[in-house]
Amino acid sequence: MDNPDLYKKSSDLRDDDHAQLLDEFAPTFNWRVDGKDSVMDVGCAGGNVTTEIVLPRLPTTFSRLMGVDVNEKMIDYANKCYKIPKVSFSTLDIGGDVSEFRQKNDPFDHIITFFCLHLVPDQKRAVQNIYDLLETNGDCFLHILADFSGFDIYKAMYPRWSEYMVNIDNFISPYYHRIDPVNMLKNHLKNAGFTQYTVVERRRIVAYHNIQEFIGAFKPIIPFFKHIPLERHSEFFDEFCKLAMEIRPDEGIQIEKFKASQNVNIFVSYKFVIAYARK
Ligand SMILES: C[S@@+](CC[C@H](N)C(=O)[O-])C[C@H]1O[C@@H](n2cnc3c(N)ncnc32)[C@H](O)[C@@H]1O
Repeated sequence: MDNPDLYKKSSDLRDDDHAQLLDEFAPTFNWRVDGKDSVMDVGCAGGNVTTEIVLPRLPTTFSRLMGVDVNEKMIDYANKCYKIPKVSFSTLDIGGDVSEFRQKNDPFDHIITFFCLHLVPDQKRAVQNIYDLLETNGDCFLHILADFSGFDIYKAMYPRWSEYMVNIDNFISPYYHRIDPVNMLKNHLKNAGFTQYTVVERRRIVAYHNIQEFIGAFKPIIPFFKHIPLERHSEFFDEFCKLAMEIRPDEGIQIEKFKASQNVNIFVSYKFVIAYARK
């Protein structure tokens, strides 16, 4: 999760989903009449979602698009790769103290976050920060990973790899295996002060029939490699792949990219909670 280049290369599938979700939800955003909307993308990583998915969906008259991320390496990469007028990138921990950032930056009309808030253990504070960073009539779109078959694999691997899976709970969603994650998020939104909100649950299962493709997609998002000695990376990933191949898909959900009669069948399942909220 520290390598912006690798992360970007693995992003096709996520990007398709993000684009579809924005096309679905953006028409309900509280767009300004003067078209001068300001937008923040939280957890922007290397900036490709900000510039390739969010930017083309803004009115051309937008005033400001800022990608923020807690990881300085990602922000350096984004600043280096995307020099676009009215677009900027800055470090910010959305789960921390945002008061200094608020002093230096005007509030935003819209805050969008994809696939990031599951990495913030203090959800109450993250949602409150999002509220505080918004303009009076601002709104937000939150796309949060709740369940993921990878989390089940982390748990299964932990006894053998615990010395390298440092702070494992910080990398597993606070909504993981909760009975009613939709209600959990609604409570955070309500307590932060949002007056209108819609929260839905979405599931996805994606099939991989090629191990290299699976490794390419998942290695960049597994957060433990920086602690694992290089000579043990393939051993870790072999075990990860073996466990991934044992996962059977849930019934009743259409499997994306599935091809019948393949030798390799890896099913990756996700459950997201998705919120649109207005201040
Ligand atoms: C899985 S990536 C998602 C990147 C991009 N939004 C996408 O959908 O492809 C998660 C990003 O969230 C960032 N992140 C994690 N915790 C954060 C926090 N507390 N504040 C801001 N960004 C955070 C990580 O550094 C990482 O770049």
